[in-house]
Amino acid sequence: MNLTLKIWRQKSSADKGQMIEYKVSEISEHMSFLEMMDVLNEQLIAEGDEPVAFDHDCREGICGMCSMYINGEAHGPDRGVTTCQLHMRMFKDGDTITIEPFRAKAFPVIKDLVVDRTAFDRIQHAGGYISVNTSGNTQDANAIPIAKEAADEAMDAATCIGCGACVATCKNASAMLFVGAKVSQYALLPQGQVEAADRVMAMVNQMDLEGFGNCTNTGACEIECPKGISLENIARMNREYLKASLKG
Ligand code: SF4
Ligand code: FES
Repeated sequence: MNLTLKIWRQKSSADKGQMIEYKVSEISEHMSFLEMMDVLNEQLIAEGDEPVAFDHDCREGICGMCSMYINGEAHGPDRGVTTCQLHMRMFKDGDTITIEPFRAKAFPVIKDLVVDRTAFDRIQHAGGYISVNTSGNTQDANAIPIAKEAADEAMDAATCIGCGACVATCKNASAMLFVGAKVSQYALLPQGQVEAADRVMAMVNQMDLEGFGNCTNTGACEIECPKGISLENIARMNREYLKASLKG
């Protein structure tokens, strides 16, 4: 395939940034999107140009690093995949592909397609954990009976990889699907009950401090989430928040 790429280039967070057009040729349909980006970068390096900066790590849909907005969709046109799992067979010869960073006030651009998503880390630090006494007298977690349905739902919530596609997709740049998943994975389990009220208050408070918007109720986040995190998690977070508020 021969392709035209329109890519957001921005030298630093202070730079205004602009779309720049590139051509790549002989791209195999079996390549992943990131492999296609590697071909472009090798070409740019050979020509003495600065390669396009983009985040990636695992390249197998686990780490959530590969945040790219491709043809107006977070992680591109396929469903249930991250950018590293997106294959070039989703495109055709002669296509023009637009590639931008995830855009949200709380995710400032660092360089080109790399954005700062440490806001998610700070939300996690605010409450995305349980405190366990590790003195040696801790009860074995496997000794606590958990209903199959609760275990399944908690596991589903825990599949969130913190990629930020939900934020990038939302008109309000809301992080509620992410925070809903992180609150839910503990709210559904007995181990999460002790700190449940403090957790949801602290995480929601941090989410607001970071500048994420409110939920639009349009469900775009659920559609674009590569891990199929359900809107149910937002509803559960709202219930947990209400419960915690009434508790005072
Ligand atoms: S909820 Fe989905 S889209 Fe949002 S950060 Fe988690 S995995 Fe990514
Ligand atoms: S590089 Fe890890 S999910 Fe894409």
